[in-house]
Amino acid sequence: MTDGECVELLQWALPRLGLRWDGFRKVRRQVCRRVARRLDALGLTDGAAYRRHLEAHAEEWAELDRCCRITISRFWRDRAVFETLRDLVLPALGPSVAAWSAGCASGEEPYSLVLAAIDAGVAIDVLATDVDAGLLDRARAARYPESSLRDLPAGLRARAFDDGRLHLAVRGRVHLVQHDVRDDPPPGPFDLVLCRNVAFTYFADDVQRTVAEHLRRSLRHGGALVVGAHETPPADRLEPWLPARGVWRRADVAWAPGGRSP
Ligand SMILES: C[S@@+](CC[C@H](N)C(=O)[O-])C[C@H]1O[C@@H](n2cnc3c(N)ncnc32)[C@H](O)[C@@H]1O
Repeated sequence: MTDGECVELLQWALPRLGLRWDGFRKVRRQVCRRVARRLDALGLTDGAAYRRHLEAHAEEWAELDRCCRITISRFWRDRAVFETLRDLVLPALGPSVAAWSAGCASGEEPYSLVLAAIDAGVAIDVLATDVDAGLLDRARAARYPESSLRDLPAGLRARAFDDGRLHLAVRGRVHLVQHDVRDDPPPGPFDLVLCRNVAFTYFADDVQRTVAEHLRRSLRHGGALVVGAHETPPADRLEPWLPARGVWRRADVAWAPGGRSP
């Protein structure tokens, strides 16, 4: 399948999956490779044939949805965000924080959050969810290639790993569960929710609004939502807290003067 055929197929199919082409434009090669493998498995030769197959077999849409998951992640991704969490957000929410990392990939994000909390002297428990069970297994194994660790400061890295595996003291703070962020949220409330580089990049506008409302409702009043560095959550009743770092907060709260907000 050529790149042009794949683009045409994705522009037609993504909105039908509640996804948006704009989010996939730059990262489409990962998706196109998987779609090409799927065509091979089905014995189909081109994008038009796959489109006819999708139209005739409703169950194939779930396969295509699986092909469309972008799984790129790494520890301490967007360094300034984790520094802000460590220095401002966690201390303001603490001394004890219940957090949810939605779309946690192989654990890089929730484990980074635990490392930030340990450095901040804040107690933390993180519910980490992803739709992909294979990624959650990798999170449980907690062994990472060099490319996943390149942004993690050397001092933290030295303390975090023992013989190539993340320390139990870090792993033990993270509870890994399979969950689709488009479904109802897990029971909260949470002080802090991270949903970065998932919903607000790849999902269609109406799905983004639904997810944003789920995330907002899962927060306690005054709790913080962290989105990706280039994302904006569409929900009402979220207000910018540290928007340059993607940090918003549940707005329907009266902040007492002299409260803990930075
Ligand atoms: C690009 S990674 C981002 C990982 C991490 N949040 C970060 O910013 O580094 C997107 C993750 O979202 C997951 N994902 C995609 N669709 C999802 C859905 N509907 N519900 C939950 N997770 C989803 C993917 O499996 C993948 O692990």
